[in-house]
Amino acid sequence: MFHITNFSEYEKAYKQSVEEPEVFWKEIASYFQWNKPFTKVLNWNFNEPKIEWFIDGKLNITENCIDRHLPSKKNAIAFYFEPNEANGVRISVTYQKLYEEVCKLANCLKSTGVESGDRVCIYLPMIPEAVYAMLACARIGAAHSVVFGGFSAQALKDRINDSACKVVLTSDGAYRGNKQIPMKATVDEALVDCPSIEKVLVYKRTNQAITLKAGRDLDWETEVNKQAAVCAPTYVDSEHPLFILYTSGSTGKPKGVLHTTGGYMVYTAYSFKNVFQYNENDIYWCTADVGWITGHSYITYGPLLNGATSLVFEGVPTYPDAGRFWKIVDTYNVTHFYTAPTAIRALEAAGLDFVKPYNLSSLKVLGSVGEPINEEAWHWYNTNIGKNNCPIVDTWWQTETGGILISPLAGITKTKPSYATLPLPGVQPMLVDDKGNEIIGNNVEGNLCIKFPWPSIIRTTYGDHERCRQTYFASYTNLYFTGDGCKRDENGYYRITGRVDDVINVSGHRIGTAEVESAINMHEAIVESAVVGYTHDIKGQGIYAYCIVTGDYANEETLKKEILETVTKHIGAIAKPDKIQLVKGLPKTRSGKIMRRILRKVAENDFSNLGDTSTLLDPTVVEEIKKGRV
Ligand code: WTA
Repeated sequence: MFHITNFSEYEKAYKQSVEEPEVFWKEIASYFQWNKPFTKVLNWNFNEPKIEWFIDGKLNITENCIDRHLPSKKNAIAFYFEPNEANGVRISVTYQKLYEEVCKLANCLKSTGVESGDRVCIYLPMIPEAVYAMLACARIGAAHSVVFGGFSAQALKDRINDSACKVVLTSDGAYRGNKQIPMKATVDEALVDCPSIEKVLVYKRTNQAITLKAGRDLDWETEVNKQAAVCAPTYVDSEHPLFILYTSGSTGKPKGVLHTTGGYMVYTAYSFKNVFQYNENDIYWCTADVGWITGHSYITYGPLLNGATSLVFEGVPTYPDAGRFWKIVDTYNVTHFYTAPTAIRALEAAGLDFVKPYNLSSLKVLGSVGEPINEEAWHWYNTNIGKNNCPIVDTWWQTETGGILISPLAGITKTKPSYATLPLPGVQPMLVDDKGNEIIGNNVEGNLCIKFPWPSIIRTTYGDHERCRQTYFASYTNLYFTGDGCKRDENGYYRITGRVDDVINVSGHRIGTAEVESAINMHEAIVESAVVGYTHDIKGQGIYAYCIVTGDYANEETLKKEILETVTKHIGAIAKPDKIQLVKGLPKTRSGKIMRRILRKVAENDFSNLGDTSTLLDPTVVEEIKKGRV
């Protein structure tokens, strides 16, 4: 049964999904349109890893997102578009219009030479075209690689080159609060060194001045309007790549997480329906950006696969003021609201005066994603936004998992503040100690692994399968390792405690410490740096950078400013350290390993239990670091 409507149905579905996973998923998959039915549900082996779902099946995911709904929902709204400016032009996109826009853009991509199996980079603001772009790629079997608009030219270039994208879809600029972001100029800078790019399609959003390179750059509207509004879907294999999404890990180089078509479709649709309990006539709004996995799975694919009506918002929570989200909720009568804890904390800090003018009575379900939600933020959200009347779904998942794995089902699973609660059907969590031994029983804590594949699990890291194996499948035999620490309480409820690797979660964005370090080290005055996370009231975690300086520099303030500029240039403003401490040395063991634990404690302003520092190469650096804490 696709839709779970009460807790005993959840228990029954869960039990079957563990005991007879193939029977279970075969039935769920039967709710979709397949061009050719699959012959086998699952092949898997976590050692290689090799994971295949719905084998031999052929389908097109956009047919399931759009065409399938047309007979009954032609004039129903697929999504409303709310622009950055509160008085800007609003747009309602019906399923019919979505169909036409996607077909025209798909034809346009074909005309530029994109074929099934090619990669297309999408670097766009949060506008309807971003959704059309993803679906247009999927329509013709090309894999999209969406790059978040906040990434720098350097970061964009690395991502384009890693997967050898053929085309970039971008805009002249983007509106973000009271700023205009120069998207096309960033693309131009990146493309100086991107040999695989043949064409760039430029959508005019801000009408700011841009340069078009003859033979390469095309005006989006001119090209798209030449095309027919019908485009037959390209049927692909279940395991055909749907998209690549780059995410940070423990090394300096982001990895391209690859998701394929059939399994991703089935799981995002199933999880959307059951976690949010979306029903006909509800209005769903996820505030994420399409540049992140949440935007892929729960703005584009999950809602459209369910024929839902949602909202696409271009702006930011605090523009023109901190009441913007709540104003939008009232304007559209939003029933389902899904956001990140960092946004909740920022809006809480702005004060209740920004909430009071709005009645918020349309809300039925609230969601949270991206980082652990602290109890205080949970209660604020529950009381002031949900009016103690809306279940909060604290959804735990990752870019690599494709969809939500641990979460309450709205109104069905009893919630507990800061707990993601129970696994969805098909998801088999397991806690292990550092040696990989299973930690059984309740009231325990360990490293979170998953012991059985679910349909939207990562298939590979693009171009480097060994890296996928090393990162996720080699830490513990026969288990997928999430990189997260986790508690299980007396009722078997799960609480994610945060990353146990070198990844910092800043405002719900994953930032690898190694990535920030290598960016900082690009500054010629810095020989070495070490970056750690520390508790930050609004962002969840902030970035603290210890930098060893060599040679001359004008003064500390200028140097720190330059370090920030260097990070912005190489990664993007999201990775800028909140604090920079210039140091003479770093606490290293005799074998040269940086003792990050000490650095983390100092960053947290906790000088207790620094441990035995006598084994360090130079124990005096610890004193110096403590004294110089910023
Ligand atoms: C963290 C975002 C606690 C976690 C969908 C995970 C969470 C990382 C939660 C993935 C949650 C995400 N509670 N922690 N509800 N949701 N995380 O790939 O550390 O951007 O490993 O995917 O965010 O981040 P990613």
